[in-house]
Amino acid sequence: MKIGTEIDLAAQIIKNGGLVAFPTETVYGLGADAMNPLAVAKIFEVKQRPYFDPLIVHISNITDIEKLTEYKNPYINLISKKFWPGPLTIVVPKKESVPQIVTAGLNTIGIRMPDNHMALELIAKAQTPIAAPSANKFGYLSPTMPQHIIKQNLNIDYIIDGGKCKIGVESTVIRLLDDGFVILRNGAITEEMLLSVLPKSKIDVLSIKKQSPGHMPSHYSPNKPLYIVGNLPNNLDIKQCVYISYVKRNDIEGYKYVDYLSEKGNLLEAANRFFQLLHYYEETDAHAIVIEPVPEESLGKAIMERMRKAAYRFLL
Ligand code: TXA
Ligand code: MG
Repeated sequence: MKIGTEIDLAAQIIKNGGLVAFPTETVYGLGADAMNPLAVAKIFEVKQRPYFDPLIVHISNITDIEKLTEYKNPYINLISKKFWPGPLTIVVPKKESVPQIVTAGLNTIGIRMPDNHMALELIAKAQTPIAAPSANKFGYLSPTMPQHIIKQNLNIDYIIDGGKCKIGVESTVIRLLDDGFVILRNGAITEEMLLSVLPKSKIDVLSIKKQSPGHMPSHYSPNKPLYIVGNLPNNLDIKQCVYISYVKRNDIEGYKYVDYLSEKGNLLEAANRFFQLLHYYEETDAHAIVIEPVPEESLGKAIMERMRKAAYRFLL
Protein backbone atom coordinates (compact mmCIF):
# COMPACT_ATOMS: atom_id res chain seq x y z
CA MET A 1 0.00 0.00 0.00
CA LYS A 2 1.55 3.29 -1.13
CA ILE A 3 0.77 6.64 0.39
CA GLY A 4 1.65 10.07 -0.97
CA THR A 5 0.42 13.05 -2.92
CA GLU A 6 0.91 11.85 -6.50
CA ILE A 7 -2.49 12.58 -7.95
CA ASP A 8 -1.47 11.69 -11.54
CA LEU A 9 -0.44 8.24 -10.37
CA ALA A 10 -3.63 7.84 -8.33
CA ALA A 11 -5.75 8.87 -11.35
CA GLN A 12 -3.95 6.29 -13.46
CA ILE A 13 -4.71 3.62 -10.86
CA ILE A 14 -8.42 4.55 -11.04
CA LYS A 15 -8.32 4.36 -14.85
CA ASN A 16 -6.72 0.91 -14.60
CA GLY A 17 -9.50 -0.36 -12.33
CA GLY A 18 -7.63 -0.03 -9.02
CA LEU A 19 -8.61 1.38 -5.63
CA VAL A 20 -7.51 4.76 -4.27
CA ALA A 21 -8.30 6.20 -0.85
CA PHE A 22 -8.62 9.96 -1.06
CA PRO A 23 -9.44 12.88 1.23
CA THR A 24 -12.69 14.80 1.05
CA GLU A 25 -13.90 17.59 3.32
CA THR A 26 -16.04 15.07 5.23
CA VAL A 27 -14.14 11.77 5.61
CA TYR A 28 -11.70 9.75 3.47
CA GLY A 29 -13.30 7.84 0.60
CA LEU A 30 -12.31 4.51 -0.92
CA GLY A 31 -12.65 5.19 -4.63
CA ALA A 32 -12.96 3.26 -7.88
CA ASP A 33 -14.11 4.09 -11.41
CA ALA A 34 -17.90 4.19 -11.06
CA MET A 35 -18.35 3.02 -14.65
CA ASN A 36 -16.21 -0.11 -14.17
CA PRO A 37 -18.22 -2.80 -12.33
CA LEU A 38 -15.19 -4.97 -11.61
CA ALA A 39 -13.36 -2.06 -10.00
CA VAL A 40 -16.44 -1.21 -7.93
CA ALA A 41 -16.73 -4.85 -6.84
CA LYS A 42 -13.28 -4.52 -5.26
CA ILE A 43 -14.61 -1.77 -2.99
CA PHE A 44 -17.27 -4.13 -1.59
CA GLU A 45 -14.68 -6.88 -1.18
CA VAL A 46 -12.08 -4.76 0.59
CA LYS A 47 -14.65 -3.09 2.87
CA GLN A 48 -16.55 -6.33 3.46
CA ARG A 49 -19.57 -4.24 2.67
CA PRO A 50 -22.89 -5.99 1.98
CA TYR A 51 -23.91 -5.74 -1.66
CA PHE A 52 -27.27 -4.23 -0.74
CA ASP A 53 -25.66 -0.99 0.47
CA PRO A 54 -25.34 1.55 -2.40
CA LEU A 55 -22.32 3.81 -2.97
CA ILE A 56 -22.07 7.57 -3.44
CA VAL A 57 -20.63 8.68 -6.79
CA HIS A 58 -18.31 11.71 -6.75
CA ILE A 59 -18.01 14.22 -9.57
CA SER A 60 -15.69 17.19 -10.14
CA ASN A 61 -17.81 19.19 -12.53
CA ILE A 62 -21.50 19.92 -12.56
CA THR A 63 -21.86 18.72 -16.16
CA ASP A 64 -20.66 15.23 -15.06
CA ILE A 65 -24.07 14.78 -13.48
CA GLU A 66 -25.39 13.97 -16.96
CA LYS A 67 -23.26 10.82 -17.00
CA LEU A 68 -25.21 9.56 -14.00
CA THR A 69 -28.81 10.74 -14.30
CA GLU A 70 -31.32 11.99 -16.84
CA TYR A 71 -33.61 13.32 -14.14
CA LYS A 72 -34.67 16.89 -14.76
CA ASN A 73 -35.50 18.89 -11.68
CA PRO A 74 -35.01 22.63 -11.34
CA TYR A 75 -33.81 22.19 -7.75
CA ILE A 76 -30.67 20.39 -8.95
CA ASN A 77 -29.40 23.61 -10.42
CA LEU A 78 -30.20 25.61 -7.28
CA ILE A 79 -28.71 23.03 -4.95
CA SER A 80 -25.50 22.55 -6.88
CA LYS A 81 -24.95 26.31 -7.10
CA LYS A 82 -25.52 26.77 -3.41
CA PHE A 83 -23.98 23.66 -1.82
CA TRP A 84 -21.46 22.16 -4.28
CA PRO A 85 -18.67 21.51 -3.95
CA GLY A 86 -19.68 20.56 -0.42
CA PRO A 87 -21.00 17.94 2.02
CA LEU A 88 -24.33 17.21 0.34
CA THR A 89 -25.27 14.03 -1.55
CA ILE A 90 -28.38 14.04 -3.70
CA VAL A 91 -30.19 10.79 -4.48
CA VAL A 92 -31.96 10.89 -7.85
CA PRO A 93 -33.12 8.32 -10.46
CA LYS A 94 -30.10 6.68 -12.06
CA LYS A 95 -29.16 6.46 -15.71
CA GLU A 96 -29.22 2.95 -17.11
CA SER A 97 -25.57 3.03 -18.15
CA VAL A 98 -24.37 3.24 -14.53
CA PRO A 99 -23.45 -0.30 -13.39
CA GLN A 100 -26.00 -1.87 -11.05
CA ILE A 101 -23.35 -2.76 -8.50
CA VAL A 102 -22.78 0.94 -7.75
CA THR A 103 -26.33 1.47 -6.59
CA ALA A 104 -26.81 -2.02 -5.14
CA GLY A 105 -29.50 -2.68 -7.71
CA LEU A 106 -31.54 0.41 -6.81
CA ASN A 107 -32.90 2.61 -9.58
CA THR A 108 -31.58 5.71 -7.80
CA ILE A 109 -28.05 7.01 -7.37
CA GLY A 110 -26.33 9.22 -4.77
CA ILE A 111 -24.19 11.98 -6.28
CA ARG A 112 -21.93 14.58 -4.72
CA MET A 113 -19.14 17.01 -5.55
CA PRO A 114 -16.65 17.02 -2.67
CA ASP A 115 -15.06 20.26 -1.45
CA ASN A 116 -11.44 19.14 -1.46
CA HIS A 117 -8.96 20.16 -4.12
CA MET A 118 -7.14 16.79 -4.15
CA ALA A 119 -10.41 14.91 -4.59
CA LEU A 120 -11.55 17.22 -7.37
CA GLU A 121 -8.21 16.92 -9.14
CA LEU A 122 -8.28 13.13 -8.84
CA ILE A 123 -11.77 12.88 -10.34
CA ALA A 124 -10.94 15.33 -13.14
CA LYS A 125 -7.71 13.53 -14.01
CA ALA A 126 -9.29 10.07 -13.88
CA GLN A 127 -11.87 11.43 -16.36
CA THR A 128 -14.65 9.40 -14.77
CA PRO A 129 -17.03 9.73 -11.83
CA ILE A 130 -15.60 7.97 -8.77
CA ALA A 131 -17.73 5.68 -6.59
CA ALA A 132 -16.56 5.92 -3.00
CA PRO A 133 -17.89 4.91 0.38
CA SER A 134 -15.99 5.93 3.50
CA ALA A 135 -12.60 4.16 3.59
CA ASN A 136 -13.28 1.89 6.56
CA LYS A 137 -14.30 -1.72 7.05
CA PHE A 138 -18.08 -2.01 7.00
CA GLY A 139 -19.69 -0.93 10.26
CA TYR A 140 -16.54 0.61 11.71
CA LEU A 141 -15.45 4.19 12.28
CA SER A 142 -15.07 6.49 9.30
CA PRO A 143 -11.47 7.64 8.71
CA THR A 144 -10.73 11.34 9.05
CA MET A 145 -6.97 11.03 8.53
CA PRO A 146 -4.64 8.67 6.64
CA GLN A 147 -3.52 6.88 9.82
CA HIS A 148 -7.12 5.71 10.37
CA ILE A 149 -6.95 3.92 7.03
CA ILE A 150 -3.45 2.54 7.45
CA LYS A 151 -4.32 0.91 10.79
CA GLN A 152 -7.09 -1.15 9.15
CA ASN A 153 -4.68 -2.87 6.75
CA LEU A 154 -7.03 -2.77 3.78
CA ASN A 155 -5.94 -3.93 0.36
CA ILE A 156 -5.81 -0.49 -1.34
CA ASP A 157 -3.47 0.46 -4.20
CA TYR A 158 -2.80 4.04 -3.13
CA ILE A 159 -3.73 6.48 -0.36
CA ILE A 160 -3.68 10.18 -1.16
CA ASP A 161 -2.42 11.96 1.91
CA GLY A 162 -4.49 15.08 2.41
CA GLY A 163 -4.04 15.34 6.17
CA LYS A 164 -7.05 15.79 8.41
CA CYS A 165 -10.55 16.17 6.95
CA LYS A 166 -12.03 19.63 7.44
CA ILE A 167 -15.52 18.56 8.57
CA GLY A 168 -15.01 15.06 9.93
CA VAL A 169 -18.52 13.56 9.53
CA GLU A 170 -20.06 12.21 6.34
CA SER A 171 -22.16 14.26 3.95
CA THR A 172 -25.85 14.97 4.37
CA VAL A 173 -27.78 12.60 2.09
CA ILE A 174 -31.11 13.77 0.63
CA ARG A 175 -33.55 12.14 -1.73
CA LEU A 176 -34.62 14.70 -4.29
CA LEU A 177 -38.21 14.48 -5.54
CA ASP A 178 -40.32 16.64 -7.81
CA ASP A 179 -41.81 18.50 -4.84
CA GLY A 180 -38.68 18.85 -2.66
CA PHE A 181 -36.32 16.86 -0.45
CA VAL A 182 -36.28 14.17 2.23
CA ILE A 183 -33.24 13.83 4.51
CA LEU A 184 -31.86 10.28 4.53
CA ARG A 185 -28.74 11.02 6.59
CA ASN A 186 -27.94 14.13 8.61
CA GLY A 187 -24.68 15.96 8.01
CA ALA A 188 -23.08 19.39 7.84
CA ILE A 189 -25.69 20.73 5.44
CA THR A 190 -28.59 21.06 7.85
CA GLU A 191 -32.31 20.94 7.24
CA GLU A 192 -32.50 24.70 7.86
CA MET A 193 -29.88 25.34 5.18
CA LEU A 194 -31.71 23.13 2.70
CA LEU A 195 -35.02 24.84 3.42
CA SER A 196 -33.49 28.13 2.31
CA VAL A 197 -33.32 26.71 -1.22
CA LEU A 198 -36.06 24.10 -1.60
CA PRO A 199 -39.13 22.79 0.25
CA LYS A 200 -39.48 19.53 2.13
CA SER A 201 -41.24 16.85 0.11
CA LYS A 202 -44.77 15.93 1.19
CA ILE A 203 -44.02 12.25 0.67
CA ASP A 204 -44.10 9.81 3.59
CA VAL A 205 -40.50 9.82 4.89
CA LEU A 206 -40.61 6.25 6.20
CA SER A 207 -41.59 4.83 2.84
CA ILE A 208 -38.57 6.54 1.29
CA LYS A 209 -36.22 5.44 4.05
CA LYS A 210 -37.30 1.84 3.54
CA GLN A 211 -35.92 2.05 0.01
CA SER A 212 -32.64 3.24 1.42
CA PRO A 213 -30.90 0.15 2.68
CA GLY A 214 -27.74 1.77 4.03
CA HIS A 215 -29.51 3.27 6.98
CA MET A 216 -29.13 0.59 9.61
CA PRO A 217 -29.43 1.14 13.35
CA SER A 218 -25.85 0.01 13.97
CA HIS A 219 -22.93 1.56 12.15
CA TYR A 220 -19.75 3.61 12.57
CA SER A 221 -18.76 1.76 15.68
CA PRO A 222 -15.45 1.49 17.54
CA ASN A 223 -13.83 -1.85 18.39
CA LYS A 224 -14.62 -1.44 22.10
CA PRO A 225 -17.88 -0.68 23.87
CA LEU A 226 -19.30 2.81 23.54
CA TYR A 227 -21.98 3.98 25.99
CA ILE A 228 -23.94 7.20 25.88
CA VAL A 229 -24.36 8.95 29.24
CA GLY A 230 -27.80 8.06 30.59
CA ASN A 231 -27.41 4.49 29.39
CA LEU A 232 -24.42 3.04 31.23
CA PRO A 233 -24.29 -0.57 32.45
CA ASN A 234 -24.52 -0.83 36.26
CA ASN A 235 -21.34 -2.80 36.68
CA LEU A 236 -19.19 -0.53 34.52
CA ASP A 237 -15.73 -0.16 36.06
CA ILE A 238 -15.21 3.50 35.25
CA LYS A 239 -11.63 3.41 36.54
CA GLN A 240 -10.88 1.56 33.29
CA CYS A 241 -12.89 3.85 31.00
CA VAL A 242 -12.60 7.15 29.21
CA TYR A 243 -15.23 9.86 29.64
CA ILE A 244 -15.80 12.21 26.71
CA SER A 245 -17.87 15.25 27.60
CA TYR A 246 -19.48 17.62 25.13
CA VAL A 247 -17.80 20.80 26.42
CA LYS A 248 -14.59 20.83 28.43
CA ARG A 249 -15.31 20.10 32.12
CA ASN A 250 -13.15 19.65 35.17
CA ASP A 251 -15.70 17.99 37.44
CA ILE A 252 -15.46 14.47 36.01
CA GLU A 253 -13.99 12.08 38.56
CA GLY A 254 -13.12 8.41 38.74
CA TYR A 255 -12.37 7.79 35.07
CA LYS A 256 -9.02 6.69 33.71
CA TYR A 257 -9.10 9.32 30.97
CA VAL A 258 -11.20 12.43 30.48
CA ASP A 259 -11.60 14.27 27.19
CA TYR A 260 -14.08 16.57 25.44
CA LEU A 261 -15.65 17.06 22.02
CA SER A 262 -15.44 20.83 21.97
CA GLU A 263 -13.76 23.13 24.45
CA LYS A 264 -16.56 25.70 24.47
CA GLY A 265 -19.51 23.88 22.89
CA ASN A 266 -18.99 24.53 19.21
CA LEU A 267 -20.84 21.85 17.21
CA LEU A 268 -18.52 22.14 14.21
CA GLU A 269 -15.54 21.39 16.41
CA ALA A 270 -17.46 18.59 18.15
CA ALA A 271 -18.28 16.96 14.79
CA ASN A 272 -14.69 17.30 13.75
CA ARG A 273 -13.38 15.60 16.89
CA PHE A 274 -16.05 12.89 17.14
CA PHE A 275 -14.55 10.14 14.93
CA GLN A 276 -11.06 11.37 15.73
CA LEU A 277 -11.52 10.74 19.48
CA LEU A 278 -13.21 7.37 18.95
CA HIS A 279 -10.28 6.30 16.76
CA TYR A 280 -7.85 7.54 19.37
CA TYR A 281 -9.44 5.85 22.37
CA GLU A 282 -10.06 2.53 20.64
CA GLU A 283 -6.26 2.34 20.42
CA THR A 284 -5.71 3.00 24.14
CA ASP A 285 -6.07 0.54 27.02
CA ALA A 286 -9.45 2.01 28.04
CA HIS A 287 -12.00 -0.83 28.34
CA ALA A 288 -14.93 1.26 27.18
CA ILE A 289 -15.78 4.75 25.98
CA VAL A 290 -18.44 6.80 27.74
CA ILE A 291 -19.68 9.81 25.81
CA GLU A 292 -22.07 12.67 26.55
CA PRO A 293 -24.84 13.51 24.10
CA VAL A 294 -24.63 16.90 22.37
CA PRO A 295 -27.54 19.31 21.76
CA GLU A 296 -29.66 17.90 18.96
CA GLU A 297 -29.79 21.01 16.78
CA SER A 298 -28.13 21.85 13.43
CA LEU A 299 -24.90 19.81 13.16
CA GLY A 300 -25.72 18.23 16.51
CA LYS A 301 -28.33 16.09 14.70
CA ALA A 302 -25.60 14.57 12.54
CA ILE A 303 -23.39 13.92 15.55
CA MET A 304 -26.22 12.29 17.57
CA GLU A 305 -27.28 10.14 14.60
CA ARG A 306 -23.74 8.75 14.42
CA MET A 307 -23.35 8.49 18.20
CA ARG A 308 -26.52 6.38 18.53
CA LYS A 309 -25.51 4.10 15.67
CA ALA A 310 -22.02 3.72 17.10
CA ALA A 311 -23.42 2.79 20.53
CA TYR A 312 -26.25 0.61 19.21
CA ARG A 313 -24.47 -2.73 19.25
CA PHE A 314 -23.47 -2.19 22.88
CA LEU A 315 -26.99 -1.35 24.09
CA LEU A 316 -28.00 -3.17 27.22
O1 TXA B 1 -19.23 12.22 3.08
C1 TXA B 1 -19.55 11.20 2.47
O2 TXA B 1 -20.67 11.03 2.01
C2 TXA B 1 -18.45 10.12 2.32
C3 TXA B 1 -17.36 10.66 1.42
C4 TXA B 1 -16.33 9.64 1.08
O3 TXA B 1 -17.94 11.21 0.27
N1 TXA B 1 -19.03 8.91 1.80
C5 TXA B 1 -19.83 8.09 2.54
O4 TXA B 1 -20.21 6.94 1.90
O5 TXA B 1 -20.16 8.36 3.66
P1 TXA B 1 -20.88 5.71 2.64
O6 TXA B 1 -20.94 4.64 1.64
O7 TXA B 1 -20.12 5.41 3.87
O8 TXA B 1 -22.33 6.17 2.95
C6 TXA B 1 -23.21 6.37 1.88
C7 TXA B 1 -24.63 6.47 2.37
C8 TXA B 1 -25.14 5.12 2.78
O9 TXA B 1 -25.90 5.24 3.96
C9 TXA B 1 -26.01 4.71 1.59
O10 TXA B 1 -27.00 3.83 1.93
C10 TXA B 1 -26.53 6.06 1.13
O11 TXA B 1 -25.46 6.94 1.31
N2 TXA B 1 -26.87 5.99 -0.30
C11 TXA B 1 -26.04 5.93 -1.35
N3 TXA B 1 -26.73 5.78 -2.50
C12 TXA B 1 -28.04 5.75 -2.16
C13 TXA B 1 -29.26 5.58 -2.89
N4 TXA B 1 -29.28 5.41 -4.20
N5 TXA B 1 -30.42 5.59 -2.20
C14 TXA B 1 -30.42 5.75 -0.86
N6 TXA B 1 -29.31 5.89 -0.10
C15 TXA B 1 -28.13 5.89 -0.75
MG1 MG C 1 -19.57 4.73 5.71
